[in-house]
Amino acid sequence: MPTSGHAAGDPAPDCASCPLGAAGHRRRRTLRPDRWWVRPILTGTVLAVAAGYSAWAAWQTTDYTAGPYISPIFSPCLAAVCGRHADVVLLGPWWRLSPALVVVGFPIGLRATCYYYRKVYYRSFWLSPPACAVGQPHRRYSGESRFPLLLQNIHRYLWCAGLLVACVLSLDAVRSFHFATGWRIGLGSLVLTANALFFWGYMLSCHSCRHLVGGGLRTLSGHPVRRRLWTAASALNARHPVFAWLSLPTVVLTDIYVRLLATGVLHDPRLF
Ligand code: FES
Repeated sequence: MPTSGHAAGDPAPDCASCPLGAAGHRRRRTLRPDRWWVRPILTGTVLAVAAGYSAWAAWQTTDYTAGPYISPIFSPCLAAVCGRHADVVLLGPWWRLSPALVVVGFPIGLRATCYYYRKVYYRSFWLSPPACAVGQPHRRYSGESRFPLLLQNIHRYLWCAGLLVACVLSLDAVRSFHFATGWRIGLGSLVLTANALFFWGYMLSCHSCRHLVGGGLRTLSGHPVRRRLWTAASALNARHPVFAWLSLPTVVLTDIYVRLLATGVLHDPRLF
């Protein structure tokens, strides 16, 4: 709650009634003495780097596969150009652009409308507000009740699409153990497996997942299965920020690892 004496949803404040006075109000948006600005700067920087890298990678037309590995940014691959990594061929050899461009909108949309990432980018980029008990620079606050922020409501549908992505990433993880010489374990196998697991954690800890398994009921007491699912989803939901920060960098690092293998910069160690 802003310490300047007015709520975030209020119209422009009357500084005459503010304990800081008009000049003080302009100079100080908070009375917090700690370094409250560190977190929005850090989280905003990580988010910007991950988004920028992913946007660059999604446009690349080479080096997104190496042996049994495929970058998660390009999965599921729907283009013939992916060869053995194509899950379903909807785009023939005539498709010359990056195959990631066809599918990357779903995970991007899922993360962009995620309740947790919203908090991060509302604070870091829109300063709305930049932190708890810090006033925002905007004169008015309309919430998510108008276009374009009204579109945040499609999150639950993007979550359903995300389930398909999670299944395909799991398939990629299993395939990553299957080399030309048989079933083996490479370092990349573990990287792709960790990526799939973290994405599942992110998906199953989602607020929409919790609502899906336990919502729409007056009481859970007569629904033992849903109650168990809801209890598990609630426990995971408390760790949603952790999964959000584990799963996003892992996507970037997995793509980098596959690229380094594909370009011959790295050699994939075999652990078994
Ligand atoms: S709230 Fe973050 S993925 Fe649903």
